[in-house]
Amino acid sequence: MSSNFNILHFETIDSTNNYAIQNIKGLPHHTVITADVQLKGRGRFERRWVSDSAKNLYVSIIIRPDIPYTQLPLVNFAQLFSVVVAETFLSFGASPVIKWPNDVLINEKKCAGILGELSFDGSDFSGIVVGIGVNIADDPSERMEIKQPATTLALETGVFVKKDDFLTKMLHIYADRYEAFCKKGFASIREEYEKYFASIGKDVSLVSGNETVAGKVLGLSGAGELILQTASGEKNIAIGEIVWKTS
Ligand code: BTN
Repeated sequence: MSSNFNILHFETIDSTNNYAIQNIKGLPHHTVITADVQLKGRGRFERRWVSDSAKNLYVSIIIRPDIPYTQLPLVNFAQLFSVVVAETFLSFGASPVIKWPNDVLINEKKCAGILGELSFDGSDFSGIVVGIGVNIADDPSERMEIKQPATTLALETGVFVKKDDFLTKMLHIYADRYEAFCKKGFASIREEYEKYFASIGKDVSLVSGNETVAGKVLGLSGAGELILQTASGEKNIAIGEIVWKTS
């Protein structure tokens, strides 16, 4: 592994992303914050991330790249982690798929989510925080508030992986990719991302800002944007969420 990590663990926390952002100034690059339970786990688009099961992984990583933060879009960091998580799932016997931009599904059900955030001290950049939630083995049927089909690694593979083993593997894979990613951005993960990206040629409906856009997925741009064939022509979408497949 080409990087050392500073690992902090909490039994209970409000949110590992909140902790990372609140304490970022005193924490070194590649601090990894984990918790058994999060009381206020957060997902993308201000959603709650149910975080009651100590079997699942809740982790945030502080990243301070040597290059200016404006050079690499935040979404690309989240996409990097979607590849890292997918490769980790694969190493434990699952067949993951990436739902653009950075959800990781197994058998069409969400098994991991990634929340990338930029942290600033006034106008000074303090670092990137990437939070990752991996459903290892709780029972998603208990989580009635989850609006989309969800699953766990254990349910899909029949194998129970300890969350610490998952984290160790994931950090190894991430560390092996980090330098190339900082140099080349999305291009460094494109091949693997496309391997797990199963939406090409599919009709999707996508929420981007206040807009809902429907179209056929033509592919990905060099920056990892989704290229959609819509009724009004080709569109590159940088940020958004595929609501669900329309076919
Ligand atoms: C998503 O909406 O898919 C992203 C979910 C991200 C959840 C993780 S769990 C660890 C970290 N702490 C949080 O509060 N959120 C992220």
